Amino acid sequence: MAVVNDFFSASHALGTWRSTVVATLFCSLLYFVLGRRSRESLPPGPRGLPIVGNLLQMLKARKGGMASFGFFLRDLNRFGEMSTLRMGTKNWIMLNSDRVIKEIIVNRNKITSERPYQPIASGIVSRWKRTLLRRVPDWVEGRRAMQHLLSGTSVKTYGEWQEQESAILLGAYLDEPENWYIHHYRYTVGIAFKIVLGIKLDRPTSDLEDFRRMTREFVISIGGSAYDYFPWLNKLPSWLRFGRKYWEDMGDWHYQTLRKWWVPFKQTVDKGAAPPSWTRDYLMNQTPPFGGGEDEEAMYLALSIVSAGSDNTRMLLNAWVMSAISYPGAFLKAREAVEKVVGKDATRLPDLSDLQKITYISATIKELLRWRPPVPVVPAHLLTEDLDFEGYYFPAGTEFVISPFAVGRRDYKDAESFDPDRWMNGTETNLLDGLW
Ligand code: HEM
Repeated sequence: MAVVNDFFSASHALGTWRSTVVATLFCSLLYFVLGRRSRESLPPGPRGLPIVGNLLQMLKARKGGMASFGFFLRDLNRFGEMSTLRMGTKNWIMLNSDRVIKEIIVNRNKITSERPYQPIASGIVSRWKRTLLRRVPDWVEGRRAMQHLLSGTSVKTYGEWQEQESAILLGAYLDEPENWYIHHYRYTVGIAFKIVLGIKLDRPTSDLEDFRRMTREFVISIGGSAYDYFPWLNKLPSWLRFGRKYWEDMGDWHYQTLRKWWVPFKQTVDKGAAPPSWTRDYLMNQTPPFGGGEDEEAMYLALSIVSAGSDNTRMLLNAWVMSAISYPGAFLKAREAVEKVVGKDATRLPDLSDLQKITYISATIKELLRWRPPVPVVPAHLLTEDLDFEGYYFPAGTEFVISPFAVGRRDYKDAESFDPDRWMNGTETNLLDGLW
């Protein structure tokens, strides 16, 4: 019962939940008995409880922090390259190997690119406007616009900005070493800000903290509520939809936080004083939804990229500090590799053109992404047509979840150790090789 309590209080979704539990049990039982599960043939997975399946195990592991969540995800490898979690009325197929991710998410992307209905994280918290969780028809235009930003000749200019910001970061480490984690955030937001909005980041630390809090809350809201796993709860009369106020307040605060960052930028654009940028020159000049006055679409898209692009990279830099403390040998090796190219006297800093020669740095980045993936589970992809795959039958509506933490512990010798040398195989500078 303590676990049941945890579920509802942890999710903040159902304050006084007892009556809802009774209704949940009844309706879900009907779903199990009459539903479409009779035709399915799914990979094995851990035994769960009636009705809720593995939901409480998953939420309990998640609540226990990365050590317990990581253990839970890694353990699913014992069922094979795919394992099934019964998440309330949903089936999650955890993809635990690089091979099945390629087969299902890449090779069959026409039927596995949709997102499930997520009334809390996508709806209430994001006003249906955050690109990461949007349904395909609403997402296509944003995706097209993003490709314009993240490909082509401008990528070279982004590299130059990164080098400038890196020099500032090194100075900040020396000036205020105790604030290293704040420097990481300023560095990653600064780069993303410049790439997306074309301006130098000039905001107090408190604004940066708010922005980080917003990103973190959004991530935690994904799959964080009973409304995601029992969609019929969303059809209850509003007075029975307990706990929604918590998410509504969060969504309002996110909106206000985004406005606080967006409005000054928009005013500068309106005055003709903003420097050239993708947002000013491309996004805001598009036909609706992004241009033509639909200010909020442009705001959510532009700042979602800043948020997605800065927070994962910040976490990876933090993991790098952790690796340097826990595995000083690997850190010293990285330092030697850099000094071999730029010299021990530090008369110049390494730049991006040196990367091909300092292969140990690429190997270190790959090892960090394996060892402490910033996104340990990727938001679910929804299957839109029935799928026969390697002896299994997945009905439309099944959800596939890429599990980088499990992938990074499968077929790796001594997987919990941080060892960049495991990537020194001649393809280390191809960052896509061997990783998700
Ligand atoms: C360590 C670095 C990073 C990691 C681990 C990471 C990871 C991810 C993951 C797992 C997803 C979801 C993919 C899916 O659903 O299949 C995602 C989406 C996204 N990422 Fe990253 N990311 C990183 C860096 C960046 C950077 C630097 C940018 C931009 C400058 C960026 C922008 C985005 C955007 C815009 C999306 C949403 C795409 C969409 O709407 O489909 N990310 N990222």
